[in-house]
Amino acid sequence: MFDRIAHSYDILNHILSFGFDYAWRRKLAALLSPNNRLEILDLATGTGGLLISLLRRRPNIVRAVGLDISKNMLARCRRKTDRRKITDRIALIRADAANTPFEPNSFDAVTMAFGIRNTHDVHATLNEIHRILKPGGTALILEFSLPQNPLVRSCYLLYLRSFVPFIGHLISGDHYAYHYLDKTIENFYTADDFCSLMKETGFLNVTPRPLTFGVATIYQGYKSGAQTDPL
Ligand SMILES: C[S@@+](CC[C@H](N)C(=O)[O-])C[C@H]1O[C@@H](n2cnc3c(N)ncnc32)[C@H](O)[C@@H]1O
Repeated sequence: MFDRIAHSYDILNHILSFGFDYAWRRKLAALLSPNNRLEILDLATGTGGLLISLLRRRPNIVRAVGLDISKNMLARCRRKTDRRKITDRIALIRADAANTPFEPNSFDAVTMAFGIRNTHDVHATLNEIHRILKPGGTALILEFSLPQNPLVRSCYLLYLRSFVPFIGHLISGDHYAYHYLDKTIENFYTADDFCSLMKETGFLNVTPRPLTFGVATIYQGYKSGAQTDPL
């Protein structure tokens, strides 16, 4: 599906989120240490929105890897990094987020924006993130969520069920993709349940940070182990 909609993904992302997606990625980037030398992996990197934002804000990133399963999304990402002349700072890999080619304890931070909801196995993906993080490393997962406030939630559901599929179809030409977006958001874990799942996987100090009335949430957790400088 993402191969089909790659051409219109970025523009629709910005339209449907009213531009809030930029601010959400900035917030996530701000949670990474600006000081330590960081090796990071961005899972489900797509067209590279988060990866580029992280590199722009954190010059202390010494190694950045973007991983995605969609060839066309990665091709778009490569074009964007070429335009910004940051291709030499990024390695792109086509693989499944639940089964990556990396050794255990490889990264200081693993990030994932709007990806975990789309994977075929959320448990396996969380386990994989935990496996490849260095001891003391951090997972930062940005995902859509549903607002707690009943009034805001009703308005948001109306928006998700009607406006999103309509505009999505109009611009991408894909009827299925933006109905799928609504279904996956409504069926995804609540913030509490997702935090419990992260804790069951072994993450420590799991914290949810709701954004924009709770329509998105950043989940952060740490892998136990030695950590000289906190991330
Ligand atoms: C909604 S996009 C998010 C892209 C990007 N992170 C962003 O913030 O714009 C979801 C991405 O997840 C990727 N994806 C879905 N399942 C995956 C999997 N099992 N392994 C790796 N990537 C996956 C899709 O190809 C797509 O690029």
